[in-house]
Amino acid sequence: MLKDRFGRTINYMRVSITDRCPLRCRYCMPEGGPHDPGQGLSCGEIVRVCAAAAQLGIDRFRITGGEPLIRKDCAQIIAQLNSTPGVREVLLTTNGILLSENLESLLRAGLDGVNISLDTLDRGEYLALTGADALDRVLASIDRCAGRLKVKINCVVSERTGADTVTALAGLAREMPVDVRYIEMMPIGAGKAFKTVPNSEILRMLEEKYGPMAKEGEPHGNGPAVYRKPAGFSGSIGFVSAVHEKFCDRCNRLRLTAAGDLKPCLCYADRIPLLEILRGEEAGMDERLREKIREAAEQKPRAHCFEDPGAVTEELRMAQIGG
Ligand code: 5AD
Ligand code: SF4
Repeated sequence: MLKDRFGRTINYMRVSITDRCPLRCRYCMPEGGPHDPGQGLSCGEIVRVCAAAAQLGIDRFRITGGEPLIRKDCAQIIAQLNSTPGVREVLLTTNGILLSENLESLLRAGLDGVNISLDTLDRGEYLALTGADALDRVLASIDRCAGRLKVKINCVVSERTGADTVTALAGLAREMPVDVRYIEMMPIGAGKAFKTVPNSEILRMLEEKYGPMAKEGEPHGNGPAVYRKPAGFSGSIGFVSAVHEKFCDRCNRLRLTAAGDLKPCLCYADRIPLLEILRGEEAGMDERLREKIREAAEQKPRAHCFEDPGAVTEELRMAQIGG
């Protein structure tokens, strides 16, 4: 089992397989690039790092980006991870635009669950927020995945999100077996220009419309979300209160960036490069990778500093560090 200096068990890795994305979300990459130079890690290199992590006890992996499905080998990466010794769970985070047409191959690859990013159910608002008139495609993806995979809808909320938008999104969990999760906007990348709305405020809006929402005891996954369920709902409502309620004492993760660096914490620029090892001498490579993974766990800070945006040293976008 991999432990950090604060006694936390590290058993989860988020793996960004590309920093590219066809969308231009206003809080992420409104102007597109610049992108990391070079090609990033190959399928074989990604699987090699994850296999080394699995040997240390990291047994859950989330493929993310950017938009991971723009890589033609996304399902192949998932399939190979699934057949790697020690890997228990492989998950995917996507904007949902390319999900429908990839669903069958992802299911064949053994994907265990999918998180779909969706911040509004209004077509015009979706276009304004992301730059693409693609709401219907995302909704069709959700429809096709529901009931076949664990599905979570991730909604990033800011001061520009209306109460109607917030309550309409929760309606997805009333009608379908999917969880809808509200994520507090974090001061990362273009997100710095937005104000964070505390999730306590979102809960108030939801209870006003749907009635009291009892807290659920059981966690639903590897993340820090707290779940509630209003009467009559098919799925649950989750709250990822990254800014207003620190959950760092429960942190269980490392990140692998698209450029091939390990990242101990979202908030700080510190990273541990693996590219040289991966492209260097074959003999002893796995041992050197394990050493770096242990080092990254050791370097994990006690907590993030999102409440003090001036102290955030990370300058990359969420798409580069793996949202
Ligand atoms: N704060 C919170 N979430 C963000 N995402 C992107 N930027 C931010 C931010 N500043 C989310 C996206 C998507 C995932 C990739 O990261 O909405 O759900
Ligand atoms: Fe793409 Fe996600 Fe960034 Fe939007 S938030 S531009 S979907 S990576």
